[in-house]
Amino acid sequence: MENLQQLENDLLQQISAAADIKSLEDVRVSALGKKGLITEKMKSLGTLPLEEKISAGKILNVLKTNVEKAIENKKMGLEKQELDKKLATERVDVTLPVRPETQGRLHPVSKIYEEVAAIFGQMGFDVAEGPDIEDQFHNFNALNMPANHPARQMQDTFYIANPDSPDFDDSFVVRTHTSGIQIRTMESKKPPIRIIAPGRTYRSDFDATHTPMFHQVEGLVIDKTTSMAHLKGCLYDFVKAFFEVDNIKVRYRPSYFPFTEPSAEMDIGCHKGKDELKIGEGDDWLEILGCGMVHPKVLLAGGIDPDEYQGFAFGMGIDRLAMLKYGIPDLRTFFESDLRWLKHYGFVPLDTSSMTGGLSNNGGLAR
Ligand code: PHE
Repeated sequence: MENLQQLENDLLQQISAAADIKSLEDVRVSALGKKGLITEKMKSLGTLPLEEKISAGKILNVLKTNVEKAIENKKMGLEKQELDKKLATERVDVTLPVRPETQGRLHPVSKIYEEVAAIFGQMGFDVAEGPDIEDQFHNFNALNMPANHPARQMQDTFYIANPDSPDFDDSFVVRTHTSGIQIRTMESKKPPIRIIAPGRTYRSDFDATHTPMFHQVEGLVIDKTTSMAHLKGCLYDFVKAFFEVDNIKVRYRPSYFPFTEPSAEMDIGCHKGKDELKIGEGDDWLEILGCGMVHPKVLLAGGIDPDEYQGFAFGMGIDRLAMLKYGIPDLRTFFESDLRWLKHYGFVPLDTSSMTGGLSNNGGLAR
């Protein structure tokens, strides 16, 4: 067995020169693999005479152990080197600022829509829609307001000429309320019906609490035994959830709408302080919506038999609810598209409203 010392030197040299795990592994295979240099030498021991076999075997074993140890040490060194390199290149600077905050803001009206839909959604209402440009049948006639009905004057209507007919009765309107969606829903669905319908509405009116375009949410429930008691329970639960207060006084004042009978306006209790408005209890009242039992003529116009079915409806101004809930003093500012206003009164869009996760989440304004 010649040159064992030379072989060991060569191998140790190669091991120390290995630049990475892969080349180290190549050296290992070339020395200790099935056909490796040391392995071959081990195999050839068998051909030697006994004396020589013993002494060469000892030397070979030492050589093998040395080489194995050297490989092991080198491997640990290389692994540490690789880890250090990885740590250095994947270093995270935890002092860097977090990702930029979402810049966009949800308009308070959109937020209120979300909140109202979350509350009624949990009560099992669907969301229905109708067109902004409406025909007089759906906006008026079917709602028990035939042409020349005095109630039409309650709403300062914007009319739009019908290009196909010079007859005024055929002209369109931009809907004065969302109540037309009651009719559209009855036309397309069989009872039981349980819907809310949010939408833009239009009337010729402009001051701090009125804008020519505003927003409403309509509600409609129709079934065989639906009663005024259901209306009251439903709306009570709604205002309680919406204003996020445990105690809230409500009252219903008799009112008049052509499409409901009896009709009422719902007020909630509040306390009007010098610079604050506290909703829930107190000696003052705030009107928040109109409601009533659907008039039998309206059911008929929607194709529903009033001898078999009855229901309740309500309609509320969303902008007003936003002003009340979020303390916004002037309605006109809602539609001025002033980004500073939106930044102040708007909401973080990712904070969605839900009955389980919270309605307004951040307790009101996103700052
Ligand atoms: N449409 C009515 C309004 O705009 C509100 C209303 C809806 C009242 C449904 C009763 C029932 O004032």
